[in-house]
Amino acid sequence: MGFRDKFKNADHALTFNDVLLLPGWTTIEPSEADVKSRATRGVELNVPFVSSPMDTVTEGEMAIALARHGGLGVLHRNCSTEREVEMARMVKRAEALIIRDVVTVGPEYTVDDLLGLMEKHNIHGFPVVDDEGGIVGIVTWRDFRLADRGLKVEDVMTKEVITADEDITLEEAKGVLHEHRIEKLPIVDEANRVTGLITMKDITLKGTYPDAVRDEMGRLICAAAISPFDLDRAKALDEYVDIIFTDVAHFHNRNCFDATRKVMGEVSAEVVVGNIGTYEAAEDCLTKLDGVAGLRVGIGSGSICSTSVVTRAGSPTLYAVSQVADAVKEYGSDAPIIADGGIRNPGDIAVALAVGASCAMMGNIFAGTSESPGRLVALEGRYYKEYYGMGSAAARQKRYAQDRYSQPSKTINEGVEGWVPYRGGASEIVSEFVGGLKAAMGYVGARTIPEMWEKAKLALVTERGAQEISPHDILLPGPREERRD
Ligand code: XMP
Repeated sequence: MGFRDKFKNADHALTFNDVLLLPGWTTIEPSEADVKSRATRGVELNVPFVSSPMDTVTEGEMAIALARHGGLGVLHRNCSTEREVEMARMVKRAEALIIRDVVTVGPEYTVDDLLGLMEKHNIHGFPVVDDEGGIVGIVTWRDFRLADRGLKVEDVMTKEVITADEDITLEEAKGVLHEHRIEKLPIVDEANRVTGLITMKDITLKGTYPDAVRDEMGRLICAAAISPFDLDRAKALDEYVDIIFTDVAHFHNRNCFDATRKVMGEVSAEVVVGNIGTYEAAEDCLTKLDGVAGLRVGIGSGSICSTSVVTRAGSPTLYAVSQVADAVKEYGSDAPIIADGGIRNPGDIAVALAVGASCAMMGNIFAGTSESPGRLVALEGRYYKEYYGMGSAAARQKRYAQDRYSQPSKTINEGVEGWVPYRGGASEIVSEFVGGLKAAMGYVGARTIPEMWEKAKLALVTERGAQEISPHDILLPGPREERRD
């Protein structure tokens, strides 16, 4: 191939703003569209939205909120292994039919110890056990909130503790909690050792979030990011997470493949790999990484990315998804594709679905919600939340995620730092995006996401056309960035 042929054979790396969904014959109303999807081969979602593993986007609170509303949060890895494991534990403890990972205390603990544990684990009651692990009491927030911090647990605990055995049904547990007007029911074995805990909160929550995505023990589904080279972190997280995401900017790399193969051999969680952006990368993932559970796709499109500015390398999300989707189809794989980067509107998600994605990962959109860990700041009378790229100087200062990008020089940043408008609770974003996505599916005439893959047709938009299809010739209130037009 001559150098000139590099232009002749070049693809158009199209992305969201370059295309439109063509309205098709429809036999459904938008409200009938079903947005259920899959994040991995094994995990179904009730809404096709995933939050990015970034330290201004997803910690425990975001992961809990999204799982409760039918989506998925991927915990970031820009922290110590202990901290990430703690976040995963928090997600898994947020709801359960029977909590298995029970935090117990000894009678000799002090009220001060209890306050520390309460803060650390975000729980308000502890079964009290003796040296052999046998239950001797229970101590809850009500027992110690006004107590002297130096008092011992045995001085403040309730000694006549009501317990149940493993065979108790949910209905029976409700009856016991009600009859004794208690909030917590420890489950014990024949030797009186605590094997679980049923709480009133969990029973109540079960009815509160009908769309929640849960595991077979009633706990929220949890996903976490790792560096493929951090096997120890993967193993530490494995007890608490259902899905592990390899989190590197350019996964199609021999060392990443070798390291990921080791991780996959050692963990029982499903492993999603990424990011990738080409047919060949997907082909290699599918043929060289047996059992890969999903593909995270898109390089350089993120709102905070400067990768393509600095390096001129990238694969915009829409183009990348279409490339990967063809490989997935041709190899007969059922690994879902997660479209990652550059999504601002439900319509962007609709076109990503049209070219084969199963769900969409968003950083910018979720960074603006109350559940994100980023700082809330007021600028000129409006609220914003801090948001920065994982390749930005701010993120790299924390060091843990530095290996997401190869750093041939200390001065190269592949991300920027800034603020996004505050948008309220994550649940509001989820319902807004579900509404927009269903409307798009209504235009296409697709009842389900697999029907989007089959039926959706695209048209290309010129630069001038793009102006016409956005609101124009009218003075709109509010700063431009808030309108997401
Ligand atoms: P949005 O557009 O939702 O994109 O803000 C979030 C995604 O962007 C990726 N990401 C980065 N990409 N430099 C990059 O080139 C960075 O510093 C950076 N940080 C995050 C990541 O895939 C995320 O999900």
